Amino acid sequence: CGIVGYIGHREAYPIIIKGLKRLEYRGYDSAGIVLYNDDEFKLSKTKGKVSDLEEKASKEIDNKGTMGMGHTRWATHGVPNDVNSHPHYSNSGELVIIHNGIIENYEPLKIELINRGYTFKSDTDTEVLVNLIEEIQKSKNLKLGKAVQVALNQVVGAYAICVMDLKKPNEIVAARLGSPLAIGLGENEFFIASDASPFIEYTNNAIYLEDEEMAIIRLNKPVKIRKIKDDQLVSPYIQELQLNLEQIEKGGFEHFMLKEIHEQPDVIKDTFRGRLLSDKGIIRMAGVEDNLEKFTRAKRIVIVACGTSWHAGLVAEYMIEEFARIPVEVEYASEFRYRNPIINEDDVIIAISQSGETADTLAAIKLAKEKGAFVFGVCNVVGSSIARETHAGAYTHAGPEIGVASTKAFTTQITVLALIALRLAKEKGTLSHSEYLRNLVELELIPEKVKEALLADSEIIKIAEVYKDSNNCLYLGRGFNYPVALEGALKLKEISYIHAEGYPAAEMKHGPIALIDEQMPVIVIAPNQNHYDKVVSNIQEIKARSGKIIALVSKGDVQVRKLADHVIEMPQSTEALTSIIATIPLQLLSYHIAVMRECNVDQPRNLAKSVTVE
Ligand code: G6P
Repeated sequence: CGIVGYIGHREAYPIIIKGLKRLEYRGYDSAGIVLYNDDEFKLSKTKGKVSDLEEKASKEIDNKGTMGMGHTRWATHGVPNDVNSHPHYSNSGELVIIHNGIIENYEPLKIELINRGYTFKSDTDTEVLVNLIEEIQKSKNLKLGKAVQVALNQVVGAYAICVMDLKKPNEIVAARLGSPLAIGLGENEFFIASDASPFIEYTNNAIYLEDEEMAIIRLNKPVKIRKIKDDQLVSPYIQELQLNLEQIEKGGFEHFMLKEIHEQPDVIKDTFRGRLLSDKGIIRMAGVEDNLEKFTRAKRIVIVACGTSWHAGLVAEYMIEEFARIPVEVEYASEFRYRNPIINEDDVIIAISQSGETADTLAAIKLAKEKGAFVFGVCNVVGSSIARETHAGAYTHAGPEIGVASTKAFTTQITVLALIALRLAKEKGTLSHSEYLRNLVELELIPEKVKEALLADSEIIKIAEVYKDSNNCLYLGRGFNYPVALEGALKLKEISYIHAEGYPAAEMKHGPIALIDEQMPVIVIAPNQNHYDKVVSNIQEIKARSGKIIALVSKGDVQVRKLADHVIEMPQSTEALTSIIATIPLQLLSYHIAVMRECNVDQPRNLAKSVTVE
């Protein structure tokens, strides 16, 4: 979910609505806003998107007031409908709350509150929290901040919240545990948001709340931050933000996803800039350099991640094992955290996350730390929870990724992980010097080759036209390109809702081959490299069963061209690095198919960009 709040001298409504639109990637099944004006709260909320809210609010409330807050929801408790949307009032109507996260023990709390006469309109855990705060405030005669603190000490779960009290017209109380919250500091005005994008044009100064911290934000007073547990005052650390407005706008592209696909040549370069000196044969990354021994002595590297980041982890497994000869395991963070994993002090954990906020990945990190392992983070969002929670790390420098389906984050993750694998290989002497250098030089050429791969766009549009109405799709690859096949399938299903599966090409004969008929498009990643002949045999197997073959081939390929129904040419690199290039046409294919099916590319149904609940 996304949260925006404002107190200051400007009209709050436009700031909050614009902010919510920028945060819609965090969830978009319902939205709501509350403003304070004329000694009253004015509230409007609805199922649907922020644009639906705008329409409803314009009819329902007068949009005046210089204090307010808004919410865009990704449902956890209770279906997306008007009633379950945030904000939620307390029973007296004097308190109002927005919440991102889950209150796990809401049921016993709810029963207790019902016994005390409270009633509930929604099915949400959030309404329980706001009434708990009210009950504490009334029964103990406490100020808002104190009541919020006492209540939060009774709840189990995760949250970022903002609360307003009718009796305190110039105050918002905010708190976080597990879900991000930033406070933007302007001149006599404050912004509160799940990330800095809603307030970037107003201020570059922000405080990021840490877990278990709460802030009392009052007009014309300095922000007061306390630890929720022991009430200790914390002196706020004010960060200067690097974001700019251009980075979070579409820049002439029809969708964020398309913009982000086209940004890849630049951001891959940004990712290795200053880290890769191919003429000197040097890779330099502070987080790796400072911990080199931990890596080279590791008996094992365990990678934890979710979604697309997990696919980057699979590519990294192939790279690290191949180059540095260190055994690697790749785990879904959600599985890892709940299965009492065997972790030793000489294991290194690499956590990969674009947002740096994914709840399951964060929990996996905490668990690995408890077990004494060294945890290294590969994150995109600077200053995110995972970046702070890990012992060391490397940023991907992809810039803000707004499209919910991850694109540039994935290819920059592979770039960082390739740098790590090669650096470790050099230290361990597991790769011949010439192979090491060849990979360095090739890595430097990747941005140009990605640019070239993007030129296949018009060819890909033609292919998309042919297959846009398919119900199923199979993606096959071998070696480094097996995870790319998984990622290709994930992209298609995420944004076009076509069922798609990724498979190791040779494994196809053990199951998916049964699905192949003349309706079934099979996308085969078939560069002219190591497993080429084997992949050609796999293509023969598909052809023999009348499947439709769309092959990703190296420039100038002859053999596959004869067999395939369609070919997409791409430049080639080393085997490992071709995985980055092969990703590009698959992103474009999913994009165009989704656009042709009139799907919401940037905000596919049911998904969210940053999943801060488990
Ligand atoms: C969500 C997003 C995916 C993403 C995954 C992991 O499901 O929709 O695109 O890959 O979370 O996110 P992370 O930020 O940890 O990489």
